[in-house]
Amino acid sequence: MVYKDGYEHFMLKEIHEQPKAVRDTLCAYVKDGVIDLSHTSLTDEFLRSLDRIYIVACGSAYHTGAVAKYTLEQLAGIPVEIDYASEFRYRNPILVKNSMVIIISQSGETADSLAALRLTKEHGVPVLSIVNVLGSSIARESDYTMYTYAGPEISVATTKAYSAQLIALYLFTIQMALSKQCMSTCEADALLMELDTLPTKIEKILEDKERIQWFASKYANAKDIFFIGRGIDYAICLEGSLKMKEISYIHSEAYAAGELKHGTISLVEDGTLVIGVLTQQELYEKTMSNMIEVKSRGAYLMGLTTYGNYNVEDNTDFSVYVPKTNPFFMTSLAIIPLQLMGYYVSVAKGLD
Ligand code: BG6
Repeated sequence: MVYKDGYEHFMLKEIHEQPKAVRDTLCAYVKDGVIDLSHTSLTDEFLRSLDRIYIVACGSAYHTGAVAKYTLEQLAGIPVEIDYASEFRYRNPILVKNSMVIIISQSGETADSLAALRLTKEHGVPVLSIVNVLGSSIARESDYTMYTYAGPEISVATTKAYSAQLIALYLFTIQMALSKQCMSTCEADALLMELDTLPTKIEKILEDKERIQWFASKYANAKDIFFIGRGIDYAICLEGSLKMKEISYIHSEAYAAGELKHGTISLVEDGTLVIGVLTQQELYEKTMSNMIEVKSRGAYLMGLTTYGNYNVEDNTDFSVYVPKTNPFFMTSLAIIPLQLMGYYVSVAKGLD
């Protein structure tokens, strides 16, 4: 699995392996249409007893936690705090009774995440880890482990492990909601059926990659790129922006769309690329109004939304569409064009 299989770089190969990573992670935990977490040792009784969840991670793994905060709070009704592991371990966190810490890590070896795990255990609070590497330190030292099935990830800029982590977190959310009786089995069945459609939808997005490549080469000389969105769209922006700066060396920031005007908007000038993520229908108009604000300062606008929202073209200079899915699962689709953008900008710049 460590060959490039004809792809120019491991990152591109791994971007294309995402349908499989999603499918394999789903298959590991969904048996005959029902979630089965028995391998993780998590029980419904334990999940029901929880009043609060802390999610702790670094980098892209933290960004999947940012998505899970929305899914867990909205679907399972449980309050969630998220922390960078490097902050958590030094802030003397107050961990309340009946809580659990979720540590998310591809490698299972990241020093800050491992230190956060050990600190949690000193507090006597149980730890669930979501980890890709079998038998890694974080997996071994956790009370419960939910493996992701992305296979070995060679590229330092993670793509398929990120996608697999999202699936593990969606499944955990659904099981938590069922345990707490916040969701009927009918609703859970519908969500599981929707999850099943994600691999094919990701394949469809990947088929359209030349369009992203064309746009990326046009913007390869950009100085600054801003990603703006609200709610889950903001969590998507965090990861899109990290992918961009990590491999293209272009300064990029993710901003909660409504926050941009409080100072940072002064950095937007003629030609600054601003990418608006608009997959959450109820926040669409709000984010669009922030995009219009930056356009009046000369920004060049790219809109990322779902098929059907064609009026995005009324205000943007370039638009990218992804298939529709349940709004809670949109990250799995919207992140694909953003990973491709980061990759193709970097290739257009001739970077290694
Ligand atoms: C960083 C990588 O160094 O580590 C990120 O560049 C990654 O892509 C982060 O998300 C955390 O790593 P891990 O293995 O704990 O998920």
